[in-house]
Amino acid sequence: MTSVPDPPAPHAGPAGRGRRGWWWVGAVVVLLVAGGVVLAGVLEHRSWVAAVARYDAQVAEQADAAEESLTRVEAQEVVHPATLAAVVVTGRTLLAASEGQVEDPAVREPLQSALDAADALRENGVERATEERTVDALRRPNPFRPATRPARHVTVVTGISPAPAELDDAASAVAASATTVADAQQQWAFDGLQAAATDGDPVLTESAGLVTDEGTRTALAAALAAARTSLDAGVGGVPVAQSVAERDAVTSATEAVWSDRLARTLELRRQQARDSGIDCTVQPCVALTFDDGPGVETERLLQVLAEKHVPATFFLVGRNVEARPAVARAAAEAGHLLANHTWDHPQLTTLDDEEVRRELERTQEVITNATGQTPDVLRPPYGDVDDRVRSIATRTGLRVVLWNLDTEDWRTRNTDETRRRAVEGARPGSVVLLHDIHASTIDAVPGIIDDLRAQGYLLVTVDQMAP
Ligand code: NI
Repeated sequence: MTSVPDPPAPHAGPAGRGRRGWWWVGAVVVLLVAGGVVLAGVLEHRSWVAAVARYDAQVAEQADAAEESLTRVEAQEVVHPATLAAVVVTGRTLLAASEGQVEDPAVREPLQSALDAADALRENGVERATEERTVDALRRPNPFRPATRPARHVTVVTGISPAPAELDDAASAVAASATTVADAQQQWAFDGLQAAATDGDPVLTESAGLVTDEGTRTALAAALAAARTSLDAGVGGVPVAQSVAERDAVTSATEAVWSDRLARTLELRRQQARDSGIDCTVQPCVALTFDDGPGVETERLLQVLAEKHVPATFFLVGRNVEARPAVARAAAEAGHLLANHTWDHPQLTTLDDEEVRRELERTQEVITNATGQTPDVLRPPYGDVDDRVRSIATRTGLRVVLWNLDTEDWRTRNTDETRRRAVEGARPGSVVLLHDIHASTIDAVPGIIDDLRAQGYLLVTVDQMAP
């Protein structure tokens, strides 16, 4: 094309001719620039669209994550603290209920510690743990088409504090130690029922024909049958409360049979007394009682009583009978009433059930072995007795007899004073407290007997005394 000379233009000189020849370069440049601008615009737009799409995706993801996390935490908030709370209530109830049943500190303390730890964990309630999450703001870097997307801040609930695992561990610790206490409680309940049944069985067999009301024996038989059924189920075979109720039923039925037996024995003795002309319901009676022997003075007392033909009641201390069995036997052979005053003279209310029982049973044994007589009367040392001791005494076959006239011979150790107090204080029905371990007391006895007889009193043993 450049080889062909252009025709001369009518209006243009030689300079105009040159400019006309390069016009297309300008057009090409314009086209190129325009094309570049269009291309740049297309690329920028694509990039923006992609950025917006990422932004929208992040926002959506953020919202989903927040919702999912909230749902999870809401479930945690309900389940884990509630599980722990329930276990704590059960543990606390068990700890309180097992007091006096499960004594071993090694069994109880872990539960107390686990409950304390659970309380500490729950003290401030359950809080939500949160985290701030941000989707960055977006700005379109195009001055001709400005656009933005705002930054999005979301508070995401990530969990709870204390953590579910902490709450669960605390609950497991309480549950595990509670199981140990519950097992020990079951064992305690079983042992208690077994002990009651073991005590009740011989009372039932040995009381045949010795009660006035056969109903007490029928009730004991029924209580024992129920206890046997539960015992056959083994430890934990029946609820603790049932074992306790059955144990109490056996115990009170055993006590009722013994009470009946003791009342019948007493009535028979009174009948015998009436047959021999002694009836304290119509005659003025006084019972002389001697505690704490046999001692070195007791044989002398036996001589005095023999000379005066006076029956007395001896409340014997078991270990003194062990030391002087022949004296105890002589008292029995002389027709005196032998009674139980414990093995070594403790305050019975301060002892536990087993210790009380041992005090009474050992003494019964030693007296029976020495004399052939088994006492059915108990005087607790110091007159120290309560319902519990009385119940144990009854179930050991012993009726509690105290006194109503204290000569204070142990304190004054004065023969005249002892005699004066006994004689001046005497009323029909007096049970006079004396101690045959003091020589001053033995010296006072002949005078007491003479004075009381002079006043018309009949001297009897405590079981001949009117109720
Ligand atoms: Ni005493």
